[in-house]
Amino acid sequence: MRWTILLPVLLFLPGFWAQAPAKTLNELKAFYATNCVKCHGPDGSARGADGKKLGGLDFTDAKETANENDAEMVKTIRKGLLFGIRMPSFKDQLSEADALILVQGIVRKAEKGKVITPEEGVPR
Ligand code: HEC
Repeated sequence: MRWTILLPVLLFLPGFWAQAPAKTLNELKAFYATNCVKCHGPDGSARGADGKKLGGLDFTDAKETANENDAEMVKTIRKGLLFGIRMPSFKDQLSEADALILVQGIVRKAEKGKVITPEEGVPR
């Protein structure tokens, strides 16, 4: 009896169906290429293709990323910086799981000159 009331309530709770499955590393590389490049650079070095310094953190410089642990980075990616003014919030597009894969698989692995781009032929 109680289920007849509870079930419809559960189904209409916001977010019950919203939790998309975690993104793959390749999907996140594509996400990086569209959403992060303008501040963090195509290779993560915070320099544009023309070598000009951009506004974001240089992921390829161990000195700059040494103070940040993965959890802090995940938090910054989802919350943004300075109310989204310095860096936008991505919490509507990235779950915590997604952001952690992004940090460990892309941000931490960034190398100068190595453009972050999804691999051809790898299923997204
Ligand atoms: C509008 C510019 C902008 C965009 C777009 C942007 N960032 Fe940032 N990001 C910044 C700035 C500015 C900082 C702080 C740099 C500093 O502290 O020197 C930062 C810092 C970070 C940090 C360090 C976090 C910490 O704990 O301090 C991470 C990780 C990061 N960004 C990831 C990303 C990712 C991933 C994306 C794309 C999904 C992204 N950013 C998009 C500007 C941007």
